[in-house]
Amino acid sequence: MIQTIDQTDAPAVGSRPGKVRLGIRDVEAFYGQIQALRGVSLDVHEGEIVTLLGSNGAGKSTTLKTISGLVRVQRGEVQLEGESIARLAAHEIARRGVVHVPEGRRILRGLTVKENLELGAFTVKDSGLRRQRLDEVYALFPILHERRHQDGSLLSGGQQQMLAMGRALMHGPSVMLLDEPSMGLAPKLVTDIMRIIKRLNEAGTTILLVEQNARLGLRLAHYAYVIENGEIRMQGAAAELRQDESIVKAYLGVGE
Ligand SMILES: Nc1ncnc2c1ncn2[C@@H]1O[C@H](COP(=O)(O)OP(=O)(O)O)[C@@H](O)[C@H]1O
Ligand SMILES: [Mg+2]
Repeated sequence: MIQTIDQTDAPAVGSRPGKVRLGIRDVEAFYGQIQALRGVSLDVHEGEIVTLLGSNGAGKSTTLKTISGLVRVQRGEVQLEGESIARLAAHEIARRGVVHVPEGRRILRGLTVKENLELGAFTVKDSGLRRQRLDEVYALFPILHERRHQDGSLLSGGQQQMLAMGRALMHGPSVMLLDEPSMGLAPKLVTDIMRIIKRLNEAGTTILLVEQNARLGLRLAHYAYVIENGEIRMQGAAAELRQDESIVKAYLGVGE
């Protein structure tokens, strides 16, 4: 069922599989005096890919930042398995398995690919486990193994996206927050990245995927939310939203 949300009270939604892994309730966030989120509520269930769609400046990145602790939650709640994480430090949230792959990738210059990956494992004390994770990342992204001794900032855009995702995977996340992983990539690479996101999900990672490209997000996700001007305006099963071209166009006006 597709629901359009008129006022502030979001109606209950139809059944979705799994328990709520991540629950965001009426979150408000500010940059100084500017209110970026005006009571955002959304759920990410265990095992799902949920996509958060919206145009530039709608509040997508801010939503992810409030979850991962990079932007303070002024009002409202962020819960992981029913427990509040809204006032925890970012590193503590990462330690609990919620890992953010930010927009723009943030690859550290002057560090090799391998060093960038090892940095991602700061939450992992066991060196054997770190080694194992590194091998898993290399298996998923063979190009990172090939380039492991090169400066991370010299990689192509697509490779940097892989490195950013690999760095997040070093934590062994149970929830991944992905901010526009397709941005600026050639179509072939977008397909590769999307395939990897699907694989990670199938291997058990719950994913909240932010996308400006609605068709891409809807193709991959199980469930979708549309944010506009800091408010969730629409939500529904991705398969249903995908079929309704008029809704996608009215809200987002983007193709690919
Ligand atoms: N660091 C910041 N300082 C001030 N305003 C910001 C900052 N980051 C984002 N904003 C504003 O908050 C709103 C939401 O931004 P953002 O969450 O980045 O949108 P999106 O990711 O959907 O493009 C926009 O109006 C944006 O201009
Ligand atoms: Mg953004």
